[in-house]
This record gives sequence, C-alpha cells and structure tokens, in this order.
Amino acid sequence: MLRILSAKAFVAALLVAPAAAKLLYATSYNDHAVTVLDLTDGQLTVLDKSLDCGSEPTWLTLDKHNGVLYCLNEGWGGAASITSFKTSLTGKLTTLNVLPVLKSPVAATLFGKKNAGLAVAHYDTSAFTTYNVGNPEKLQLFYTQNYTLSAPGPRPDRQEAPHVHDAILDPTGKFIVAPDLGSDAIHVFEVGADISATPRLPSIKTAPGAGPRHVAFAKTASGTYLYSFNELSNTVTGYKIEYAGSELKATQLFDVATRPAGESVPAGTKAAEIEVSPDQKFVIVSSRGENNLQIPAFAAGGAPAGARIVSDPLVSFSIDQATGALAIVQRAPAGGRNPRGFSINKAGTLVASALQDDNRVVVYARNVTTGQLGDAVAWATVGAGENNGPNYVLFDE
Ligand SMILES: *[C@@H]1O[C@H](CO)[C@@H](O)[C@H](O)[C@H]1NC(C)=O
Ligand SMILES: *[C@@H]1O[C@H](CO)[C@@H](O)[C@H](O)[C@H]1NC(C)=O
Repeated sequence: MLRILSAKAFVAALLVAPAAAKLLYATSYNDHAVTVLDLTDGQLTVLDKSLDCGSEPTWLTLDKHNGVLYCLNEGWGGAASITSFKTSLTGKLTTLNVLPVLKSPVAATLFGKKNAGLAVAHYDTSAFTTYNVGNPEKLQLFYTQNYTLSAPGPRPDRQEAPHVHDAILDPTGKFIVAPDLGSDAIHVFEVGADISATPRLPSIKTAPGAGPRHVAFAKTASGTYLYSFNELSNTVTGYKIEYAGSELKATQLFDVATRPAGESVPAGTKAAEIEVSPDQKFVIVSSRGENNLQIPAFAAGGAPAGARIVSDPLVSFSIDQATGALAIVQRAPAGGRNPRGFSINKAGTLVASALQDDNRVVVYARNVTTGQLGDAVAWATVGAGENNGPNYVLFDE
C-alpha cells in the first residue's frame, strides 16, 4: 500500500478547507490497482492504492450514502471478482469482501431498496447478473441471465456472441437497461419489490452492426430520453422513453455521429463512455483511437516549452429540452490517448478523464452554462507500465 499524504495531514487539510478537497477513485489494468486521488487547489495527489480488486480492475460503483465502493475485476485469465470497500474521509479503502463472479464484468449499477442490489454486465460470458449487496461484507449472487446468438451479427469480428457491456438504472428506479454490443440490442429488466430483476421482452433493437456499448438517460421537462453510444458505428442513438405499467417502451428518434455532417471519424475509432450532465442539458462522450488532437504535454515539474502530445476527444452535445435532440457543442481534448472512462462531478463543473494508453488521469474544468470543457485543472500519473493503464475514474460524491 502506498501512502503519500498521511491520514492526519489529510484530515488537517479537510478541516482547514473542507470545500476545496475532493476524493476520486480510479481503476487501472496495468498496475492492478484502485487508486485513491485527492484533488485540492489544482493538485491531484495519489493518497492510497489497493490491490484488492484483483488482476484487472475495470469499473467502480459508489454507494455514497452507505460509504461503500464496489470494484469490478474483469479477470482476463478467468478469475473475475467483485470487491466491496468501505470508504473514508482520509481516502483509505478498507476491503469488506471479495466475491468470485462470471468472467469479464465490465460495468455495474446499484438498484433496489437501500441500494441492496448490484446489476452487472459481463462482456465475454454474455451475461447479466445481479447481486444482493444489502450486507456489503457478504456479497451474494442473486440472478443470472445468459444470452445466446443464433448467428453472428453484421460485424462478426466483434459480434460472434452477445457482449453485455453496461447496466444502467432508469430515472424511475424501476428498470435497468443493459446494452449488448454483440446482439445489437438493449436488454430491459424490471426491478421488483426487493432486488429481483425480470427481463422485459423484446429487448430494444439498435441498427444492425451498431454495437451499443454504454447508455445514459436524460430527464427533461418534455420527458425521458435514452442515449446509446455505439462502439461499432461510433454514433449516438436517441430514444424517447415511455412507461406503460411494467413495460418500458423506447421509440428511436435519431442516430447521430460525433462529428458534424460531412466529417467522419478515422478508421480504428472506438466509442467508449457516455454521460449526461447533472442538469440534464448536455451529453458527453469519449471517442477512443482518433489520435488527432494535439495538446500541451503533461510532465512532473513542467514539460519543456512547446512540448505537445496526442489526444483523443471528449465530444459534448447539448440536449434540446423539448425534443431530446442532440447538437454538437464542442470537441475537446480528453487529456491523452484511449479515454475509456470519465465522469462528471455533481456540480457539473469538473470532468475527470482516465487515459488508458497514457497512465494518466486529468481533471478538466467545465462551464455548466455552455457545456464546454475548459483548461486542465489537475492531473496525476495513474497506472504503471506499457498500455492498459487507467480505464475509469469516479468522484467520491
Ligand atoms: C450462465 O452461464 C454460465 C457460464 O458462462 C454458467 O456457469 C451458469 O450456470 C449459467 N447460468 C444460468 C442461469 O444459465
Ligand atoms: C461560462 O460561459 C459563459 C458564456 O461564455 C460565461 O459568461 C461565464 O462566465 C462562464 N462561466 C465560468 C464559470 O467560466
């Protein structure tokens, strides 16, 4: 365990300036760690690292109310797991439990009364699972839904089997949706009175070959919208969501690119994360493998004057509050290469971005009025070794 700032010093800092300090958590593959970061006065400092999320930490879900952090380990060699940690004001993570699970859990959401359910998407094993996490010291598998494909999809290299990639709770808390990159479908589950999740058929169909990866809901005065970021088509599909009893009905509204009309993304681009801003007015997506922005280099002690590095973009769209339509407002640097995961703070004023191919986490300022990202506020080295570094970062809020 690496301690850079003592717990005592950190608590002292909190007492002096409670509003200025923020904790963030990042997962990375190459150092097999969950890294705790402290953001204070424009400095991002590594406070702690835990190796208890196994060999390939890939996703974090925070139960802020209960002070519990769940970490998914993809387990590339087969030994996948979910770890529960108790969080603390000092940033120290205390391991509560480690539960072996089906291979390649990649994303999760809490759901149900008192956040007693955790729903998880499994990529390689084509499954959607739920866990009873009512006692985070004793995680228990509750339900497994396996998917099969009768024939490969239009992109057989990636669609040879179902690949469930995300699990998101809808704004009513009554449904979970799970995009399946391999099946060109978004599976829908109804949340029961306890933590049961019943599949609602048929699943929402996407365009053939779209490869839906991650999704996000927005709730505006005109209704509820679902946005799917499609890894294979590199487009965002918008759906209007309507509820009828125990059914969630999705009507496709549009499918838009991450570039203005007439422009296209380079070959090798892979859509990654999608988030809706807390005020429900903007959508942000991360686009991997574009490698076509140049930004000032980050270096401890300052980079040489004029030094530049390559970055992929974070693309922001405004949401038309009356129709749910998206319009591009900005294509900003993500802070480096391969921005697999990022998150927005609750105030909407900061975006933290994990750069998988650069062993870096960068925090950018965000203007909540314009939805535009501004300057880098802080950055830190996270991960160690070549490639497959930090893949996700989350604010402790
Ligand atoms: C789902 O598939 C896994 C193998 O990937 C298997 O171990 C499990 O028993 C299956 N569960 C159900 C409910 O079919
Ligand atoms: C956000 O942008 C608006 C419009 O350009 C500007 O008036 C405002 O000062 C900006 N806010 C911050 C916090 O920079």
